[in-house]
Amino acid sequence: MADSAAEARRDRPCALITGASSGLGAAFADRLARDGHDLVLVARDAGRLAEVARRAEERHGARCTVLPADLTAAADRRKVTERIEEGVDFLVNGAGFGVSGSFWQLDRKVLEEQLAVNVTAPQEFTHAAVRTMLDGAGGTVVNLSSITGLIPGRGSTYAASKAWTRYFSLGLNEALRGTGTQVMVLCPGFVRTEFHARAGIDVRQVSEGWWMDPDDVVDRCLADAARGRPFSLPGLRNKVFIAAVSRLPRPLAQRVNRMLGNAGARA
Ligand SMILES: NC(=O)c1ccc[n+]([C@@H]2O[C@H](COP(=O)([O-])OP(=O)(O)OC[C@H]3O[C@@H](n4cnc5c(N)ncnc54)[C@H](OP(=O)(O)O)[C@@H]3O)[C@@H](O)[C@H]2O)c1
Repeated sequence: MADSAAEARRDRPCALITGASSGLGAAFADRLARDGHDLVLVARDAGRLAEVARRAEERHGARCTVLPADLTAAADRRKVTERIEEGVDFLVNGAGFGVSGSFWQLDRKVLEEQLAVNVTAPQEFTHAAVRTMLDGAGGTVVNLSSITGLIPGRGSTYAASKAWTRYFSLGLNEALRGTGTQVMVLCPGFVRTEFHARAGIDVRQVSEGWWMDPDDVVDRCLADAARGRPFSLPGLRNKVFIAAVSRLPRPLAQRVNRMLGNAGARA
């Protein structure tokens, strides 16, 4: 494992991935290493990041840097920003979490932390990455939103953070048109990761057909990225669902979305 970013080889592009210790972030790490990237891996759990790095090195010969950071802390976000400013070709803002319980009963600190990880960190990291990419050979930023951010009804603060991510990414991508730097938004449905268990969201009523594996989601996202598509909604069932629900009158759409997503338990 590389001790510092400065050791990363210059002959391979570099991808920085937040949330790389688990789920979609770990799947991005594996796939981007396979595609020839060196990696900078960011999350809180240094042990799990080291394991992801070891696999990427063994399987794909990637040079990896582990950068443990708690993205609720401004000082840790600064560390990550400084690494991005040294130059990255690909940025995945994958770290994120949701919370269970009523908005009005939750501790404000938890809500602020959710905002920091889901919104503040992607904004800061995208800002640093785009500036650096525009000064260099261009690059790609993938921001993790969710199907939850497409139609109101599945909770409040988490869904709002994901709607922010979508508007932010698509708006910024328009502004970057023709520059060689793209910012895209990934909106997965239900993915088999630790997300729901960590959030305490009961998904027992979600039928098997809705679930996707992280590797499939990442493959479809990167296929969309390669085609220059700024919006990725992986999975036929998710595409049909969103197309159908978007055509319903808004109150009915929200009701369907709320029932499917067990929204009563989500903030
Ligand atoms: N799974 C789904 O069904 C689904 C659907 C739509 C969108 N998403 C979005 O996909 C993204 C990835 O989630 P996932 O499904 O892969 O869930 P996951 O398995 O729980 O992974 C979440 C990642 O975020 C990191 N993280 C959480 N809090 C952090 C903090 N304070 N500082 C730094 N890193 C932090 C975690 O690492 P540490 O614990 O090591 O810090 C972990 O690597 C999230 O943005 C989520 O909102 C997920």
